[in-house]
Amino acid sequence: MSSKVAVRGLSLWYGKKQALYDVDLPVLDRKVTAIIGPSGCGKSTLIRCMNRMNDHIEGCRVKGSIILDGEDIYSKGSDLVSLRRRVGMVFQKPNPFPFSVYDNIAYGPRMAGIRKRSILDAIVKSSLERSALDEELGDRLDEDATELSGGQQQRLCIARALAMDPEILLMDEPCSALDPISTSKIEKLIRELSKEYCVAIVTHNMEQAARVSDHVAYMHLGKLIEYGRTAQVFKNPRSENTRNYISGKFG
Ligand SMILES: Nc1ncnc2c1ncn2[C@@H]1O[C@H](COP(=O)(O)OP(=O)(O)OP(=O)(O)O)[C@@H](O)[C@H]1O
Ligand SMILES: [Mg+2]
Repeated sequence: MSSKVAVRGLSLWYGKKQALYDVDLPVLDRKVTAIIGPSGCGKSTLIRCMNRMNDHIEGCRVKGSIILDGEDIYSKGSDLVSLRRRVGMVFQKPNPFPFSVYDNIAYGPRMAGIRKRSILDAIVKSSLERSALDEELGDRLDEDATELSGGQQQRLCIARALAMDPEILLMDEPCSALDPISTSKIEKLIRELSKEYCVAIVTHNMEQAARVSDHVAYMHLGKLIEYGRTAQVFKNPRSENTRNYISGKFG
């Protein structure tokens, strides 16, 4: 199966400090790839490279490439605006804008120049449907998004990302600020989304990685130690290091 995203020989430095070492990782289309590993191992750093979020960090330097549909996103001619449109991102802490539900979802499309109300209405509706929020929020479009529950806010952030019609969704610990019920709704949603999108998720929660992902990448101290099918990595890891982490010996 071909990769939607292929990380190749990626190294990254924050100033003098190296945070990623020669990482190679395939991220397959219509699958969920979970990135796991102890705190500080470089999970967020790696996922942030996939839409070049690290470009905004002063002193950050990258070597290697990330191939998206055959083209290196780090090549000179690469268009950052179109990259961000193709690669949506959801963060650890729900971060809705202090606007209505509608305006949150319509924000990106409006920024992209869509003004016609009927088109925006259709985007808002389909984004709510695709993020399984239509029933809960379909008739609360004028409500202030910051007054929703944490779980609803996070799903709204997913809907906001979907409104840009991305191909890839990056999620950095999207459930770590949520209660178990909201977490389970998001996990169910992630499984649904993987039918249409390429999803990469960072998680600290082993059970979550086992439940939602098709493939697992285990990182340690900036290196990718192991990558494989989720069941294989959890049941029969190739590396002693992975085994120790999974069995809770460290991390
Ligand atoms: N903006 C930054 N400037 C300098 N160093 C950074 C920056 N962001 C991360 N680092 C360093 O890079 C390394 C990897 O950090 P990263 O945030 O990617 O780890 P992580 O695996 O996501 O950890 P956690 O599980 O705690 O979120 C750490 O040593 C961290 O201190
Ligand atoms: Mg992190």
